Amino acid sequence: MAIEKVDSVEKKKFFLTTPIYYVNDIPHLGHAYTTVMADVIKRYKTMRGYEVFFLTGTDEHGQKIEKNAIKKGITPKELADSVVVRFKELWKKLNIDYDKFIRTTDEYHIEGVKKIFRKVQKNGDIYSGDYKGHYCVSCESFVSDTAKDTPSKNKICPDCEKETEKVVEKCYFFKLSAYQEKLLKFYDENPDFIQPKSRMNEVRSFVTMGLRDLSITRSTVSWGIPVPEDEDQTIYVWFDALTNYITGINYLEENENFNKMWPADLHVMAKDILKFHAVYWPAFLMSAELPLPKKELIHGWWLKDEKKMSKSIGNVLDPNILFEHFNSDAIRYFLMREAPIGSDGNFSHQGFINRVNTDLSNDWGNLISRTGGMIGKYLKNKFTGNALIGAKEKEIEDSYNELEKVVIGFFDDYKFNRGIEKIFEYIGKLNKYIVEKQPWALSSDESKKDELEGVLLTLVRAILSINSILSPVIPETSENVAEILNNKTVGFGWKDTSDNFTINEAGPLFPRVDLKDFLKSEEVEDNKEKRGTEKKEKVEMEEGLITFDDFKKVEMVVSIVRNAEKIENADKLLKLEVDTGSDTRTLVAGIALHYSPSDLIGKKIIIIKNLKPVKLRGVLSQGMILAASDKDGRPYIPEIPQETPVGAILK
Ligand code: MSP
Repeated sequence: MAIEKVDSVEKKKFFLTTPIYYVNDIPHLGHAYTTVMADVIKRYKTMRGYEVFFLTGTDEHGQKIEKNAIKKGITPKELADSVVVRFKELWKKLNIDYDKFIRTTDEYHIEGVKKIFRKVQKNGDIYSGDYKGHYCVSCESFVSDTAKDTPSKNKICPDCEKETEKVVEKCYFFKLSAYQEKLLKFYDENPDFIQPKSRMNEVRSFVTMGLRDLSITRSTVSWGIPVPEDEDQTIYVWFDALTNYITGINYLEENENFNKMWPADLHVMAKDILKFHAVYWPAFLMSAELPLPKKELIHGWWLKDEKKMSKSIGNVLDPNILFEHFNSDAIRYFLMREAPIGSDGNFSHQGFINRVNTDLSNDWGNLISRTGGMIGKYLKNKFTGNALIGAKEKEIEDSYNELEKVVIGFFDDYKFNRGIEKIFEYIGKLNKYIVEKQPWALSSDESKKDELEGVLLTLVRAILSINSILSPVIPETSENVAEILNNKTVGFGWKDTSDNFTINEAGPLFPRVDLKDFLKSEEVEDNKEKRGTEKKEKVEMEEGLITFDDFKKVEMVVSIVRNAEKIENADKLLKLEVDTGSDTRTLVAGIALHYSPSDLIGKKIIIIKNLKPVKLRGVLSQGMILAASDKDGRPYIPEIPQETPVGAILK
């Protein structure tokens, strides 16, 4: 654990990259995973005092893009331009705070690739020859030696198991074989170069088995960077793409910024492109006399139906579908919480919704709304400065400080799922602390007022502390929580906020989503066109009617009124505190002329839970009470049988 680094790392640079993604494919959850992970690392490292530079972008040359563009009847550049927009839009929606987006069709990159090619050539590592063998277009990889024969005589790529193409062409080779010993020596001297270690072992055995020289140009692919002084050939797409990590920080000029930033501190990627990054890339850099990256973090795959999510298999999940129901933090949280960094994760809708509903809605969201609700109810949103901090409160603070050390240990090691797991154990502890302390009981005893204030203040401080260490993962929510609790202190440490302040009222942070609704939207997505025509035909017949699905959108829940009071200067309005079974919330109801607060306290009512919150006379109303109304507007609240459980749903 490297906790002592906290102060000593001030202003050290941290250069961080994702792979640059192919533009033959629209972004899916797999791409989002790597990019969210890099963004979480950027935000976390920034908190740790580093000056971070985060580079991402797109890989736009090569046979795969060329073929795809031909299929679509457009130019490769047109294809790239349209897909780049999709990537950028998704990164914006997911709150990805990258510093630079590089495209391999950018002029400075093209010139930078020519520069490194010349340098490697000058150093005697490039020679011309003929390539005879197989090529996997999907992996953009030469597979001559490893391709497997099949009865149909087409060789199969050992990595993606797709058919390869036979290639016989003139090319330039890179003397990869000359780097075998140097690479092994480098791995020995830098055993932490690849994380996790198991991947390091894979790389080592691959290199130990022997390296053959690598073709680094193509004479049958025109969509690429021309080889300097031999325009009949284009540079192999991987030689071009890997170079983005240096051209993105101005290798072309090799200026002060380049020298400050390079070598990269961390390349993040999935295991499919390990060989290119851990073998070819270091060899190219050695040849170009440049330092090697410090670390490569290799994560697993997101699978769907037990197979790697990828366009060619057709099992990708477009994160835009998730945005129909969830905000960006829910998606970010799920990705970081669910899969341990080294292994594969199977995506299921049920798993996604359970994780988000349980952790974010129930545990974290509820802790905040419960605490906020009690501060509103018992302290009128204002702390007076008389909080009594007892032994239990001190223990909450001490255990936070312990937790923080553990979380830093995990996050420094990029084990985000483990760190988050610990944070949520602590959140569970805070929810238990509320039950133990029973603020509602303390509030009814005037002599316990300072103790009550101490409990609520400790909760605010704990929430603020957690909020800050969760901010790299769920940055948007973190800002909202800081806003609600009127405290924008960031960074590590127990947030010893002053005990004389006011807080703002909160709406629900993570509304619960129902699995059925969620699944339905995917279905809708699949059948959009079909449904479009069906809809038009039906619309005239059905005007004025709603479907059962429309009805189901309204979430009606049996709730119990815990408190009721009149709202000043509003004769008709009552402010109700209701327990819905999953949270406590405030409603404003226009029934004060016919119901008094005492008629309602302890009464079971039906509320519409998923109504957009509105502010009425300065009070945030989170839902609506269901009542009948006669022609004069007199309300009648339906009687609910006493034995109906709170939280029961009307359907
Ligand atoms: N263009 C090359 C990379 C060049 S980097 C110098 C490439 N592009 S890609 O579009 O295929 O992206 C591969 C990367 O996307 C993976 O290494 C991983 O980071 C991410 N993922 C793509 N599919 C994924 C999953 N199903 N699961 C997890 N990550 C995935 O390879």
